[in-house]
Amino acid sequence: MIKGKTVILGITGSIAAYKAADIASKLTQAGIMVEVIMTEPATRFISPLTLSGIVGRPVVTSMWELSSEFSIEHVTLAEAANVVVIAPATASTIAHLAAGTADDMLTCTVLATKAPVIIAPAMNDNMYNNPITQENIAKLKARGFIFVEPVYGRLASGKIGQGRLAEIDNILGIIRSNLGQEGDLAGKRICVTAGGTKEPIDPVRFIGNRSSGKMGWALASAARNRGAEVLLVSAADYLPETAGIQVVKVTTAAEMAKAVSNAVKSADALIMAAAVADYRPKDYAVKKIKKDDTSLTLELLKTPDVLMEVKGNLLKVGFAAESENLIANARKKLMGKKLDIVVANNIADTDCGFGSDLNRVTIIDKNGRVEALPLMSKREVADKILDWVVELIFEGGI
Ligand code: CTP
Repeated sequence: MIKGKTVILGITGSIAAYKAADIASKLTQAGIMVEVIMTEPATRFISPLTLSGIVGRPVVTSMWELSSEFSIEHVTLAEAANVVVIAPATASTIAHLAAGTADDMLTCTVLATKAPVIIAPAMNDNMYNNPITQENIAKLKARGFIFVEPVYGRLASGKIGQGRLAEIDNILGIIRSNLGQEGDLAGKRICVTAGGTKEPIDPVRFIGNRSSGKMGWALASAARNRGAEVLLVSAADYLPETAGIQVVKVTTAAEMAKAVSNAVKSADALIMAAAVADYRPKDYAVKKIKKDDTSLTLELLKTPDVLMEVKGNLLKVGFAAESENLIANARKKLMGKKLDIVVANNIADTDCGFGSDLNRVTIIDKNGRVEALPLMSKREVADKILDWVVELIFEGGI
């Protein structure tokens, strides 16, 4: 669980400094205590007032003007940190860190901390690619510093190059994955599936379904944030961020079956959130089918049932998408597919489900326990499901 943890957010003097406000805001909203340390040049790009307003705490800008709350040695701040992140990090700050100098509050804190340090550089592409900067980065990487590479795009100079601060979602994903390392799923390997499979008819068309992949992604990222090693087998088109998650992309049910059967060999749990096609076209037309006739008949063949085929000593969680007799039908799937947990959702609900960020589910386990949850975000549903997974994994000694 990452709530209640402490992140030190270091901000240095780059045009991208304004983006740090977004990082501070999202971390704060997630219940994380954010201590902001700004270098003097950073305060020229964004006001400390903005940051302190966002995190609801004073911001440290100097070694010499500590507020009463910060009348502590920098060492105390460094010790309180679960993660230190510097975003954006300039070439100059990276050079100072590589040289081990401690001439401002940020470099002092980094030198004094034992927490993981994540660095997200942002600078002109020539500065970034300069061998001096690259040598500094290599030196820090060798010491265990975690870098979130800058991306290609339009730079402050108007030029296109590699130097833009990485996507905020990516930086947040890496922070979350580091914060979760000692969570209740630490040391467990979890395979999650997401999205709807697509069964091709011809080069243009396919048989698909309305699954967006949001529930599967929520489960994968929540499991990562609780310390699990996560493998995500995804048929979803869009995944917001997958930092620290191993992703295998698939399209069809057959590809998903193959990827899952490989993954489960070493997994402690499989969570099948994907909507797998039950049938696929028998024949694939290599060329686009022309509309010659008034009707067209497709012959469909049954696809493998991925969950049913998975055997072994691992915990199996399935979903049951039902439009009637929710609990009875979900129980049938629990028994029929030899599941440990089934998560039932009523697809007739119009306020949640496919494509939505919300879900209303009932969780049922093999011991007969049932919990009907109210409408909540898919992230919250994911954590509820994982609470059950944790209980059963440790109860069964898996
Ligand atoms: N599932 C699977 N392989 C399939 C079909 C479904 O592994 N070929 C998994 C789904 O990922 C889900 C569970 O089985 O976790 C139940 O899926 P659902 O579509 O609700 O049920 P089906 O078994 O397909 O049965 P029906 O469509 O008749 O309700």
